Amino acid sequence: MKFGHFDDSRKEYVINTPKTPYPWINYLGNQGFFSLISNTAGGYSFYMDARLRRITRYRYNNVPLDMGGRYFYINDNGTVWNPGWSPVKTELDEYECRHGMGYTIIEGKKNGLKAEVTFFVPQNYDGEVQQVVLTNEGSEAKEFSLFSMAEWCLWDAQDDCTNFQRNFSTGRVEIEGSTIYHVTEYRDRRNHYAFYTVNDEIDGYDTDRDAFLGSIYNGWDNPETVKAGKASDSFADGWSPIASHFKKITLAPGESKTLIYILGYAENPQDKKFASEKPANLLTREAWVLNKEKAYAMIDKYNTPEKVAKGLEELRTTWENLLSIYKVDTPDDKVNRMVNIWNQYQCMVTFNLSRSASYFESGIGRGMGFRDSNQDILGFVHQIPDRARARLIDIASTQLSDGGCYHQYQPLTKKGNADIGGDFSDDPLWMIMSVAAYIKETGDWGILDANVPFDDDPEGKHTMLEHLNVSFYHIVNNLGPHGLPLAMRADWNDCINLSCFSDTPGESFQTYTNPKFKAEGGYSKIAESVFVAALFTYTGPAYVGILEHLGKADEAAKAQAEIDKMKKNTMESAFDGEWFLRAYDANGEKMGSHECEEGKIFIEPQGFAVMSEIGKDVGADIKTLNSIDKYLNCEYGLVLNNPAFTKYYIQYGEISTYPGGYKENAGIFTHNNAWIICAEAYAGRGEKAFEYYSKIAPAFTEETSDIHKTEPYVYGQMIGGKDAKNFGQGKNSWLTGTAAWNMVAISQYILGIKPEFDGLRVDPSIPSAWDGFKVERKFRGDVYEIEIKNPDHVCKGVKKLTVDGNEIDGCIVPVAGDGQTHKVEVVLG
Ligand code: BGC
Ligand code: NOJ
Repeated sequence: MKFGHFDDSRKEYVINTPKTPYPWINYLGNQGFFSLISNTAGGYSFYMDARLRRITRYRYNNVPLDMGGRYFYINDNGTVWNPGWSPVKTELDEYECRHGMGYTIIEGKKNGLKAEVTFFVPQNYDGEVQQVVLTNEGSEAKEFSLFSMAEWCLWDAQDDCTNFQRNFSTGRVEIEGSTIYHVTEYRDRRNHYAFYTVNDEIDGYDTDRDAFLGSIYNGWDNPETVKAGKASDSFADGWSPIASHFKKITLAPGESKTLIYILGYAENPQDKKFASEKPANLLTREAWVLNKEKAYAMIDKYNTPEKVAKGLEELRTTWENLLSIYKVDTPDDKVNRMVNIWNQYQCMVTFNLSRSASYFESGIGRGMGFRDSNQDILGFVHQIPDRARARLIDIASTQLSDGGCYHQYQPLTKKGNADIGGDFSDDPLWMIMSVAAYIKETGDWGILDANVPFDDDPEGKHTMLEHLNVSFYHIVNNLGPHGLPLAMRADWNDCINLSCFSDTPGESFQTYTNPKFKAEGGYSKIAESVFVAALFTYTGPAYVGILEHLGKADEAAKAQAEIDKMKKNTMESAFDGEWFLRAYDANGEKMGSHECEEGKIFIEPQGFAVMSEIGKDVGADIKTLNSIDKYLNCEYGLVLNNPAFTKYYIQYGEISTYPGGYKENAGIFTHNNAWIICAEAYAGRGEKAFEYYSKIAPAFTEETSDIHKTEPYVYGQMIGGKDAKNFGQGKNSWLTGTAAWNMVAISQYILGIKPEFDGLRVDPSIPSAWDGFKVERKFRGDVYEIEIKNPDHVCKGVKKLTVDGNEIDGCIVPVAGDGQTHKVEVVLG
């Protein structure tokens, strides 16, 4: 069952009912100001950091689920309704929500009155613009009232939802004309403020929540002022501040009226915080006056429909350009729609927000993840390489000089989070992978010389190359009894906590390590991760390639020897006969072996081991891939492990606490499905690669939206696995490494257009039924128009490759570097 449809020509998903199986959201903003917006206009806004600079309030895990947003209320002769249906939930005569690239249009119609609201955050602008177009489609004149509503969050979202003894006494506002300013804590230690304005005179306002609602027993679905058709002109003072504009409107039949609201954020320099004069019409309870110059300028920027149209046009052009870098034309519309539109769009969102703020991540729990952001770069780097570069330097600067990493950092402060700490064994390797991806995309070898400090030596002169070096050797210098990398607190799978041994409720699996490992430095020196071993052998060659390019042959050979040794150790101690083990636990026992009672096979190490060709000479790759198909493949994707754990295994930790089929306990973790898709494509099995891809790619799940529940245009982290009662149900949509990795899987492995240090590899691995496909790829200043022909209907194998008519050996198109368009023709066979 579907709840809408794709409109590819406008790059939109069109939702035709407000009652989607879960709030289906979009993200507005891609620089500093961000908003989340659901199909019923729920959500919230923040500047840079969803925790430390939250602008509007949201109520998590609420009943009803999606409560808090920017709501417009209409009172049309006693019928109160919202264009987005919620929160009043009056049945609408017509409803439509269009989520597009950085904007959302919600349209509702009731009793002949149509309200269309366009929400977007313009480029280079710290505010959300909301354009409301009201049209009387009836045959009689209409007189009605319109109320806006935004509830301010008191900046630090964590404090906001816990520290009521203070917060209930701090709210402050100023009102000037049609603009309501949120100035809580401004006088003291903050130099930022927010405002909500409308480009017309108003007939009243409310800034005090209780006054707007009329009673503390009323919810957003039942505001007294709206029902009364009149604002109460309340002034918030030390109490929950909101911003609501009240406007009386009369429309003749066929007449329209456009109003533009702006929810903005601004910062003042310390010495310009206050205005010297108090304007006559200013309402305030304070002796000081906010300096509003920045707000005035922001308001001026979008106060007419023409200016709004221009802002929307700029946004559209921005996205046209971003999406013109990798464009594909395959025989499958769903692939085209994922690659050309939604997957790339989601990669921008994950790049911006890591795992911080979604409808499953509260924005107060964690900032940017070290491993997460590094992986996000893989799917984003071609879009805006300069931003990727800046991010790489930020992330690397949180690294320690021994190669260890802070696992997370706050985007506002760019400092590692001490409360979660480090010692996640995989973290350093993602850094090598992302820096290599950046160089492969751009050819900017200069990044290796960039001055990048270490967290424990902030003033020191260090280069990015040094960061890669310590990353590589952090693995090599921390091996366990089998010569495999120590698992430390956890590897990619946060829920395999081999040093935890937790038996007390409340101990966080993420941060707790058993005191018995204290003497050993904080984690077991026995537990080893086969996943990290395989990730090392997969990623290490990029480091070697970098050294070779720099002419450091000795260092390269030394690093290569470590990779070779790791492959040998893995094959000797971690190949289980039909697949690779997952780990050795702290007791030195095998995890993920046919000898285990449960959790006999895990997905994570397999793909990287196959792509590293570990044991390929003895057929380990094909055996492994076949085992995955046999034990992990099911209707909706590949489960993470099998059989699911049915007991608590204290030596494994959190993974065994989930009911079977959910999350890391045998859920379909789409992130690592991508690694198998890559591996199948790598092994030349294009059919299988595509089968797995089409099981999880959102556009393919659209028809079963009633089962899948989350948005059919973006990946979620997890889908309920075959052991789950809710088999096939998506969870944790939007902020997941799946976005980047599936972009890599489809664009670089299946379609096979892969940047390398010395050119663009073209080596597809596709379903044999395809006659071919075309890709337009902008790469290092040139444009490559690539046409793949598949006359023999094979999955993989480049028989002939020509560039501008000249045949070349192999399948790497050399960089032309002339800024021209080049025709690449490839014949498979
Ligand atoms: C979740 C993981 C997540 C981790 C860190 C765990 O509970 O299951 O998916 O990465 O927490 O926040
Ligand atoms: C989500 C986290 O963001 C990611 O870092 C981790 O790898 C997966 N969960 C698996 O546990």
